[in-house]
Amino acid sequence: MAKPFGIFCQIPNVKKHGLILPGAGGKVAGMTEDLISQPQPRLLAAADWGDYELIDSGDGQKLERFGRYRFVRPEPQAMWAPRQPAESWQADGRFVPGQGREDDEEGGGWTLSPDLPDSWQVGYDGLRFLARPTPFRHLGFFPEQAPHWRWCAAQIDRFAATHGRPPRILNLFAYSGIASLHAAQAGAEVTHVDASRKAIAQAFENRDTAGMEDAPIRFITEDASRFVEREIRRGRSYDGIILDPPKYGRGPKGERWRIESDLVPLLQGCRQILSENPRFLLLTIYAIRASSQAAHYALSGIMEGAGGAVSSGELVSVESQPDPRVISQANFARWTAEGA
Ligand SMILES: C[S@@+](CC[C@H](N)C(=O)[O-])C[C@H]1O[C@@H](n2cnc3c(N)ncnc32)[C@H](O)[C@@H]1O
Repeated sequence: MAKPFGIFCQIPNVKKHGLILPGAGGKVAGMTEDLISQPQPRLLAAADWGDYELIDSGDGQKLERFGRYRFVRPEPQAMWAPRQPAESWQADGRFVPGQGREDDEEGGGWTLSPDLPDSWQVGYDGLRFLARPTPFRHLGFFPEQAPHWRWCAAQIDRFAATHGRPPRILNLFAYSGIASLHAAQAGAEVTHVDASRKAIAQAFENRDTAGMEDAPIRFITEDASRFVEREIRRGRSYDGIILDPPKYGRGPKGERWRIESDLVPLLQGCRQILSENPRFLLLTIYAIRASSQAAHYALSGIMEGAGGAVSSGELVSVESQPDPRVISQANFARWTAEGA
């Protein structure tokens, strides 16, 4: 076998992750590139969503459509020229960032058209829910998560077909509940946990908008780590777990959440409450400066010995333009009992 050299020597755990492919990249103008055999990131984007569109992007902004309304939001990744000059973008609302740090997601506010309603309905896979501008730059849900909603629905379907009962799904950091509603619509029994009473109230609103008042969803206002610890003590288990933790957070009793220190213990707790025949574990990470490989390694470490497969990559939005560009929104890693 050829000896590792160059790039390999600078990367720890080279052997552990099978990182030895010197020269495999082929020649470019007389130069040999080195490819590494790490998990290949997948780019996942929402398909056929009539109520969401990334229309254009560039100059540090993006123009999107949520239902009939268009919005301009800051997008630091859009380091390219827009297809149409950004000054010509027609929008019903613009988020004007504050004067603080570039990556300060808290500052700034919306300039909204007087004709824009406080909230309006959008739909996905037959599910109706609410869009509304929030102080956190987003519209009350994350459209790029749509591929995950469908993937979970496929897992739920397979589980029910195999085991002849609805799977029990836990959604941690569940916010306004679209993943919970979509999973319940797919036939799961869902436990929805979020620390924020306001977020839970939004999830109720979405449940009612969807006409799913009788859906089997338990809504719980609690700190995610504390909830998982309690489920371990109570011997409860889940067939699938979804988690989308923020960088920082607070539980309802002031419990501190920091992704750097708290994610791995939480994942270990999640592994403990997976049922005897679990179907999936899905981790999404927005708020961290890391590649999807980090999420991949964290999840594959936790699921070691469980069989199945982990895949990972990025959730992206794709411009609805010829030759579209994509904007990466989040990293993910997901484990499933059968193939990825
Ligand atoms: C990025 S949002 C999750 C988005 C959601 N997965 C979705 O797709 O709509 C983060 C959520 O975590 C909640 N949160 C923050 N700290 C928490 C904690 N310690 N325990 C439980 N939830 C927490 C927030 O209230 C917020 O709703």
